[in-house]
Amino acid sequence: MTNKYFSNDPQRAGKVNDLFAIVAPRYDFINDLQSFGLHRLWKAQLIRTAAVKPGDEALDVCCGTGDITLRLAAAGARATGLDFSRPMLDVAEKRAAILPKLIRPLHFIQGDALHLPFESARFDIVTVSYGLRNLADFDAGLGELIRVLRPGGRLLILDFGKPAWAPWRWIYFQYLRWACPVFGRLFCGDADTHGYILESLKAYPAQNGVDQALEAYGFQQRRIFNLVGGMMSLNSGCKPPA
Ligand SMILES: C[S@@+](CC[C@H](N)C(=O)[O-])C[C@H]1O[C@@H](n2cnc3c(N)ncnc32)[C@H](O)[C@@H]1O
Repeated sequence: MTNKYFSNDPQRAGKVNDLFAIVAPRYDFINDLQSFGLHRLWKAQLIRTAAVKPGDEALDVCCGTGDITLRLAAAGARATGLDFSRPMLDVAEKRAAILPKLIRPLHFIQGDALHLPFESARFDIVTVSYGLRNLADFDAGLGELIRVLRPGGRLLILDFGKPAWAPWRWIYFQYLRWACPVFGRLFCGDADTHGYILESLKAYPAQNGVDQALEAYGFQQRRIFNLVGGMMSLNSGCKPPA
């Protein structure tokens, strides 16, 4: 079965952009539905692990509708959210506009995660939540996240995971295979928008592969949080000194 939004080649970026243009107006609603609201707890865990200090410069790559960017700002960071999807950013900006001034400064910019428009070593914290899996080139994407992080800065990567225990993984993959496309069909008129999750996850190195990649970059204090038995994964670590 092929999914029209997934391919393992440079055309993928255009397909993913098409996908999020369709999903944007319902993205937050479907997220709550398909995770039973739990994505809020996983994102809160990311923010706790980021240990934001007031005034930290934080970049949230593939920010989508801004969940993590807004939380970073609320925790005291000077937060920037970056995404290539205008419809997703429109939702993020509307959400930010109705929040109290207390959590500013934050802003959103349109850009490509594979070519971040920032100088090297600019940020104290870099996050990517449900984004790295979507990039056409995992290695190039991770390299960009690390390039813009200052030595000693914290990198946080949250995404769907691959549970180590085979029966649990099987049950979870059945949910992604059969239930998620129903959300796509019901709320976006297209089963493939959410059938994409499983296809992209199969091609993604997930928690162990991300950890190995961070080890190869010499990351320190690396941690893997296996959430819900590894269904979701949070990787964290500190960039080594220059
Ligand atoms: C599943 S959403 C995640 C949104 C948000 N971070 C969250 O956790 O809810 C993935 C986002 O990645 C963005 N994205 C995918 N590839 C990208 C790229 N090459 N550059 C910038 N954004 C990208 C999509 O537009 C989409 O908004």
